[in-house]
Amino acid sequence: MIYLDNAATSYPKPEKVYDEMLRCMKEYCANPGRGGHDLSIKSGRAVMEAREAIAEFFNIKDPMRLVFTKNATEALNIAIKGVLKKGDHVITTSMEHNSVIRPLKTLERDMGIELTIVSGNEFGEVDVEEFRNNIKSNTRMIVCTLSSNVNGIIMPIKDIGELTREKGIIFLVDASQGVGALEVDVEYMKIDLMAFPGHKALLGPQGTGGLYVANGIEIDSILQGGTGSSSENMFQPEILPDALESGTLNTPGIVGLSQGIGFINSFGLLNIKNFKNLLINQIYDGLSNINGVIIYSKKEPSKNSGIIAFNFKEIDSTEVSYVLDKGYGIASRAGLHCAPLAHQTMGTIKGGIVRLSVGCFNTQDEINMLLNALQEISDSMKYVTNIN
Ligand SMILES: Cc1ncc(COP(=O)(O)O)c(C=O)c1O
Repeated sequence: MIYLDNAATSYPKPEKVYDEMLRCMKEYCANPGRGGHDLSIKSGRAVMEAREAIAEFFNIKDPMRLVFTKNATEALNIAIKGVLKKGDHVITTSMEHNSVIRPLKTLERDMGIELTIVSGNEFGEVDVEEFRNNIKSNTRMIVCTLSSNVNGIIMPIKDIGELTREKGIIFLVDASQGVGALEVDVEYMKIDLMAFPGHKALLGPQGTGGLYVANGIEIDSILQGGTGSSSENMFQPEILPDALESGTLNTPGIVGLSQGIGFINSFGLLNIKNFKNLLINQIYDGLSNINGVIIYSKKEPSKNSGIIAFNFKEIDSTEVSYVLDKGYGIASRAGLHCAPLAHQTMGTIKGGIVRLSVGCFNTQDEINMLLNALQEISDSMKYVTNIN
């Protein structure tokens, strides 16, 4: 199997991720923060060490402002629903995942927030001035993806951060795509809220993710209870992370995620980025030489977080992905990728796109095999569709 669906969930994981998760389950997986006995303290300490390591990775100064969630969607829902109030105006982009668009549209319908969606160019690339031009007196939040999960386009996060700081607007970043290859520094980028999954390029297991909440950002909990702290209190504690971490944490997942980040640190973020760029270049150049292919991603490393979106003219994306899987053992993903507005922007709403997303365990040999497979598919199709 050649796995090129790393934007959905990365696979495989570093050995240390598997090892530590198993060790945790076998040796110290009591309830972190509840119990007060040795094993619970050990488990709580492991969670705290992971919190510190992940905070450091994103330059989060106070690890207690990093909240663990079960995925990016949960973190985005907490951030959006915990902050916005009736009458608030929000600006977002057409390249957002439905984990952003759906909570916003739901608040627009049910609570009366105002929503502006900016589209940018045909790659979904949005200039900071588009945000500036849409700011109103009631604009409370800008929500923007770090990078698109459809075509990998990277958004100008630092510029938007400067704008929101200048205007006193809350800046929420969906860092689901790009973390683990792009440098993300919440201080430098002036990010107020950042949601991220653990199971993608951070190389952790599924069931992990997090939300960073900057100092001074008021956020209501959408779940209450089960914090293990302030048991005398009938209401949710206000201090972070407890205020937003209800219920027993996923300790084995969290220690696994910490090992994933440890792997990235030891390998070097820049080395991972360069390696992924190499693979993306190889795919881009190879695809450009195959008849009938249209590419919807940019090649430049500064514009692509590790995804190539493409189609064969006139062939449905699901068909291509199916043949890659069944005929060649190559895992890709087809369709709309939970982001229909992105496809309106890119002109691919009818059939979606085939997405190839590379990870740090792919090889150049695998990409050669992919390109040979796509060449064969192209050759076989020309008899059927006259794509030449
Ligand atoms: C840009 C983006 N946002 C949000 C999500 C949702 O992530 P999760 O599955 O961790 O909730 C994804 C997942 O593919 C994504 O690519």
